[in-house]
Amino acid sequence: MAEALILVLLSKIATTMGKAALDGTKLQLGKEITLLFQVENSLKEIESEFEIMQAYISQVCLQSRNNQIFISWLKLVRKIAFEVEDIIDEYAFLLGKMDDTESFLKKAFHHSKNITTWRNISSQLQLVKIRLQHMTVMKERYGIKISANGKNTVINNINRQIYPSDSSYLNIDGDDAIVGQEGYAQKLINCLNDNDVNRAIISILGMGGSGKTTLASSIWRRHDILNNFKCHAWVSVSQNYQIENILSKIMNQLDSKSTGHATDDHNVMVGKIRSYLMDKKYLIVLDNMWDKDSWLLFDRAFPNNVFGSRVIITTQIEGTALLAQGNNSIRIGFLSPDDSWKLFCKKAFSKLTEAACPACLKTQADRILAKCQNLPLAIEAIGSLLSCRGMDEQEWASFYDQLNWQVTSNPELSWVSDVIHLSLNDLPNHLRNCFLYCGLFPEDSPIRRKWIIRMWIAEGFVEDRGTDTTPEEVAEEYLKELTQRSLIEVIERNVFGRARRFELHNMVKEIIRTTSRKQLFALTCEHPDVTSLGDAARRVSVHTGGQDFQPGAAWQQLRSFLLFDRCVTVPWICTAVSSFRLLRVLCLRYSLLQEFPNAIVGLFNLYYLDLSRTKVKRIPKSVARLKNLQTLHLRDTSVNKLPCEITQLTSLRHLFVSKGLYGTSIPGNIGVLKCLQTLREVKASKDLVENLGHLTQLRTLSITNVSTGHAKDLWTSIRKMAKLTRLAVSTHGMNEVLSLEKFRAPRYLQKFYLYGRLAEGVIFPVSGHFQNLKILSMRWSGLTQDPLGSLSQMPSLVYLELCEAYDGEALVFQDGWFPKLRQLYLIRLQNLNSLEISDGAMTNLAYLELRALKNLKAVPKGLEFLQLLKHLRAEKMPGGFTDGITGDQAFLERVEVECW
Ligand SMILES: *[C@@H]1O[C@H](CO)[C@@H](O)[C@H](O)[C@H]1NC(C)=O
Ligand SMILES: *[C@@H]1O[C@H](CO)[C@@H](O)[C@H](O)[C@H]1NC(C)=O
Ligand SMILES: *[C@@H]1O[C@H](CO)[C@@H](O)[C@H](O)[C@H]1NC(C)=O
Ligand SMILES: *[C@@H]1O[C@H](CO)[C@@H](O)[C@H](O)[C@H]1NC(C)=O
Repeated sequence: MAEALILVLLSKIATTMGKAALDGTKLQLGKEITLLFQVENSLKEIESEFEIMQAYISQVCLQSRNNQIFISWLKLVRKIAFEVEDIIDEYAFLLGKMDDTESFLKKAFHHSKNITTWRNISSQLQLVKIRLQHMTVMKERYGIKISANGKNTVINNINRQIYPSDSSYLNIDGDDAIVGQEGYAQKLINCLNDNDVNRAIISILGMGGSGKTTLASSIWRRHDILNNFKCHAWVSVSQNYQIENILSKIMNQLDSKSTGHATDDHNVMVGKIRSYLMDKKYLIVLDNMWDKDSWLLFDRAFPNNVFGSRVIITTQIEGTALLAQGNNSIRIGFLSPDDSWKLFCKKAFSKLTEAACPACLKTQADRILAKCQNLPLAIEAIGSLLSCRGMDEQEWASFYDQLNWQVTSNPELSWVSDVIHLSLNDLPNHLRNCFLYCGLFPEDSPIRRKWIIRMWIAEGFVEDRGTDTTPEEVAEEYLKELTQRSLIEVIERNVFGRARRFELHNMVKEIIRTTSRKQLFALTCEHPDVTSLGDAARRVSVHTGGQDFQPGAAWQQLRSFLLFDRCVTVPWICTAVSSFRLLRVLCLRYSLLQEFPNAIVGLFNLYYLDLSRTKVKRIPKSVARLKNLQTLHLRDTSVNKLPCEITQLTSLRHLFVSKGLYGTSIPGNIGVLKCLQTLREVKASKDLVENLGHLTQLRTLSITNVSTGHAKDLWTSIRKMAKLTRLAVSTHGMNEVLSLEKFRAPRYLQKFYLYGRLAEGVIFPVSGHFQNLKILSMRWSGLTQDPLGSLSQMPSLVYLELCEAYDGEALVFQDGWFPKLRQLYLIRLQNLNSLEISDGAMTNLAYLELRALKNLKAVPKGLEFLQLLKHLRAEKMPGGFTDGITGDQAFLERVEVECW
């Protein structure tokens, strides 16, 4: 972890020095300024020390996790890194405070006390510098070195850790029944036995503990299959393998007479294996392979002869699984609840004659099993453990109570956590912090993509890749990588397939929470598991029972505070807020707050503030002091007007203010918030629509209460937002007319919500625009002509809603139109009496909703052509329509119909 911390530290030093850059005005200050210079110089020196240390640690770390000297040394470095982080954040805090007072330098520096504070920082940095130098001396004294070729040659006898893979769970169970994996096993056998004479790679992909190794090993027990191959070998390619070792293991298994030694040069070994295999049908399993680069070597060792040889790779990394060609890839998901139960019973009750759950244990068994969340590894581990206990309800109940502790601390279960630690250790530094941060979210609150991204950025976890890439884009990549490594699961996608919410497996979550706690990264408070809010953790997430904890002095050091407990009282929250100092992320969503806690404005390092879904009504002018604020969430609060001072928050990137559809007004010139990427539910005004044109970074804009007079300026402004992907415009009533004369669709627009009457009932020009539009919702448009011909020229559309948008009598969907559309909503089209779907239209439609089409008396023509339709919802439809639909048996067999 130290490395990850250092990375954050380095980026913080860089940003802080950027902010503090000494300019001319400061230079006039004469004597005191030397102090500031001193601080900056020390920072620069410390930065270089850490840069080198970082490089050094990442070289040594991989191989020395077990070396006690190195571990102790690392602990000390970590401690210093923590201290430096505190000093830097304190420095940034003081800078913020200075900026806050008018003509800050005079006021600031002419107070002797203030000078003392700066002096203090300066001398603390001096001390740190000395200690860092001492650390360098120390590592040399104890001989922690890296050799020229990058591998460490620690003098002490390192007992190189054997990294466990899920193969540890291979040994538990000697028999061949694999609960819930029958389907995968069959597919694997097919891949091994098909007639392809070429060497084929077969991959088995799944998260740690999903049973990849078990699946592969089931083949190892099938002699009928093994005997088809002339020779075979199984090796575990876990993280820190030495290629020579692996090759010699392979060679020895293939040919017991072989004389391969791990000392041989690997090119020699590759040659030996290759010539041995050249004329044979072979089967090799590379278990738990991490990176696909090592394949280059194996590829040379395993010749592509024409005897139908096979290589099986098990991995939890998607990119590695892609080595398999064609259909030879097996992705293992979680068990079904039924199979989980079967597996659990098989393990837990193996000593009973029936291997069935005694009635008295059923309740406890269900609770315990729920904790395992259908992960085979966890079920096996815990089931096996329970089988050694008495079959007594009391005992099981107490086991359940201790489960969290059990999972992470009981040696009998330690390999469950080993498997997960292995994944954690393999993470690159920048991802580790991000992944640990995911552990702050409670079980019942999935991780939202956009939130977590902004929190990571606020914490300084996301690397700066220059001006062409926004931190948001970098963070998206992190998220993708965590998903590809099977560490987090996508649990919800939007209508066009983009991941929206994520979840950690419970077992994974508990383990990373323990790790977080040990490393003082974060503490999760879940009553009654945690009874004290520990003193040193840098992040706190309160899930339940917050009221019982006492905010303490240590909270000055907190960087993130996330409150998920909706019951804590307002005074408690205010006390907590007053105890923060260096906080960067504050989330009080859903809390009982009614007023904006004033202490918040003293948190000069705050980057992320979420007060949405509280009853807060007013934001004070002093909010202007939060100069670093990047994200401000005020959705579903009672704030209907922001103070003009909001426009002084020039770091703002994401601003959410909404009172439902009404929007919030923002007086002042919004055009100065040049970094804004998100502006949601803001009320239109003449000034606002004009000034919006300066916000050229906007990706998301939602504007309400637009009136006829605003249209021209609004469209002109929007034309300047080249990066806009989501646009929502609504008028202040159904009858407000919008002229579209100046409107041009932004090039990358993906989502467009347009609520308002369109001038003369004519739709905007479509042809050649809207190439990327995926979601379109039009309300109140009052179109007089069938708009489908125009809309059908939006090639990417997956979601279309027309609500009171068309006054005509007929709609026809023609052959070839809307090939990607998956959801269609037709609502309150008052005059519509004929709806026709041609064969070949909307070939992908899965969901159709028809609501309050009071003149559509008959079942639409051509409904039967919608071959992929799964769900039809009809609400407030005329009787003739409903009877027609419910009378069509063939249709009902295919499509789920819901009539309201
Ligand atoms: C530093 O100076 C400011 C501005 O005059 C003053 O308000 C503040 O109290 C001083 N800080 C300390 C620690 O004395
Ligand atoms: C310097 O700061 C440290 C930590 O904040 C504090 O413990 C110490 O008393 C301060 N020293 C002076 C002289 O202000
Ligand atoms: C892949 O497998 C599927 C179903 O098992 C089969 O329908 C398809 O034809 C296969 N594709 C190839 C390229 O073998
Ligand atoms: C919307 O704007 C109109 C003027 O165009 C105004 O009369 C009305 O009060 C506004 N509605 C809200 C909710 O602010």
